[in-house]
Amino acid sequence: MSDVRILTISGSLRRDSHNTRLLREAERLDPGGVMFDHFSGLGKLPLFNEDEEHPAPPAVVDLRDRVRRADAVLIATPEYNSGIPGGLKNALDWLSRGEMPLAHKPTAIIGASPGAFGTVRAQTSLRRVLHKMNVNVLRHPEFLLGHAHTHFDANGCLPADSPTVQLLTTVLDGLVDLVEEHRAKLAAA
Ligand code: FNR
Repeated sequence: MSDVRILTISGSLRRDSHNTRLLREAERLDPGGVMFDHFSGLGKLPLFNEDEEHPAPPAVVDLRDRVRRADAVLIATPEYNSGIPGGLKNALDWLSRGEMPLAHKPTAIIGASPGAFGTVRAQTSLRRVLHKMNVNVLRHPEFLLGHAHTHFDANGCLPADSPTVQLLTTVLDGLVDLVEEHRAKLAAA
């Protein structure tokens, strides 16, 4: 397997976000041959407006470029009112237009919540949105972290030998496999 570039996107703007921390943990795992790019500009994207699509705003151009350059995307979503945060949905609406750089892109979803259900409703909603956008979403394993605040240590890290880190590793491995399958399909086409 040659190098894989993964773009990470957190659906939370919060400084001490559990979801952003999950992405930082994923970036630290270093499965070998993987490079990460973290998109932290969700809060700078203007609200989607069909009247302002052409020319695309600079923040949108930046997001689209980074998605296009990535081999895969890893999204960590909080759950807000049983759905995905508005900022994340706004970014996806921008990505669903123009040259649609997220279409067919290998993508994995993870999520963390202090509640018991670990973002299951948000992830279900996110899968539906990504399905509509023709995104190549990793189906297994599902990564749902409930009671998230109890899993991180005082430095905001997960213990290296925890089941959560093991599951995160499995998700990353699955995402890399999905990239490999995607490349094989493109080569055979
Ligand atoms: C929440 N939270 C929440 N949690 C949950 O499990 N289900 C829910 O429906 C909601 N709804 C909700 C709405 C709003 C407006 C906020 C601000 C919060 C709690 C949420 O999971 C918690 O704030 C997380 O810590 C947010 O994720 P980050 O910022 O830690 O990544």
